[in-house]
Amino acid sequence: MPDTTYRIHRYPTRFIESLVLANGRRVTLRPVLPQDDALEQQFVSRLSPATRRMRFHGSISGLAAAQAARMSSIDYRQELALVVTALEDDDASGGDSDGGIEAGDGASERLVADARYVRCADGCSAEFAIVVADDWAGLGLAHRLLAALCDGARRGGLRWLRGEVLADNSRMLSLMQACGFCLRTHPDDTGLVIAERQVGDTRSLRCPDRDPHAAASFARRGREWLRSLRWLLAGPHADTR
Ligand SMILES: CC(C)(COP(=O)(O)OP(=O)(O)OC[C@H]1O[C@@H](n2cnc3c(N)ncnc32)[C@H](O)[C@@H]1OP(=O)(O)O)[C@@H](O)C(=O)NCCC(=O)NCCS
Repeated sequence: MPDTTYRIHRYPTRFIESLVLANGRRVTLRPVLPQDDALEQQFVSRLSPATRRMRFHGSISGLAAAQAARMSSIDYRQELALVVTALEDDDASGGDSDGGIEAGDGASERLVADARYVRCADGCSAEFAIVVADDWAGLGLAHRLLAALCDGARRGGLRWLRGEVLADNSRMLSLMQACGFCLRTHPDDTGLVIAERQVGDTRSLRCPDRDPHAAASFARRGREWLRSLRWLLAGPHADTR
C-alpha cells in the first residue's frame, strides 16, 4: 500500500515571527501547517462577500474540506504559504466559538491573514495571492506579508512574483504600486490586472511588457488621489488643478 502520510518538506522556520500591530495586538506570522485546515475554512467563511470576491475572483461562501486541506498541506519546495494568527478571548468574541481553535486559557487561535505563492512552470516566477480579514485591514499586514513573500521567492531562486488582481480592486492596486509592482491589463481579460515585480535586485526593477493604456489609467487615478489630498489639506476652495 502506498504511504499517503503527508510530510513537511523544508518547513521554512525563518518566517516565524511575533509582531505587534499598530492597534497594539500581538500576532504570529508563520508558514501554514497541515492542522490549519479548520482555521482556513473558518477564516474564509468569516470574510465579507466583497473580500472573498477580491481574493477568489468569484462568489464563494467558503472552502470545501478538500480545498482547505490542499491550502494547508504545502510542499515548501514549490510553494510558500504564510498565515497570520491572533489569539482571541472567547469572552471577547461574545461566546462565538465557531471554529476558533482552543489555545488554552479561554483563548482561541484565529487566522487573520493568508498570503501564498506557487512556483510557475517557467521556473523563474511564482503566482501569489493575499487576503487580510476585514477587521484586521489597514494595519500593515499586507505590506509585511508581501515583503516575506518576496524574500521567500528570492531565497527560492525565483526572479518574479506575479498576481492577478480584479480591475475594480483599487485598494489592492494602490498597495501593489506602493510595493513596487508594475501593473498591466491582462492580455486575455480586461477585467484583470497583472501585478508583477522582480524579487531579486529591487534597485533594478523593470516593468516587462508594460501596457501604456493601463499606465495612463493608473496615472489618472494618482492625479485624482492628489486632488483629494489637496482638498483635504487646503479645503474645498483650493486650486485643484
Ligand atoms: C488589499 C488587502 C490585501 C490590503 O491588506 P492590508 O493589510 O489592509 O494592507 P496594509 O495595511 O499593509 O496597507 C494598506 C494601507 O494601510 C496603511 N498602513 C500600513 N501600515 C499601517 C499602520 N501601521 N497603521 C496604519 N495604516 C497603515 C498603508 O499605508 C496602506 O495605505 P493605502 O491604502 O493608502 O495604500 C486587503 O484589503 C484584502 O485582503 N483585500 C481583499 C483580498 C484581495 O483583494 N486580495 C488581492 C487579490 S490576490
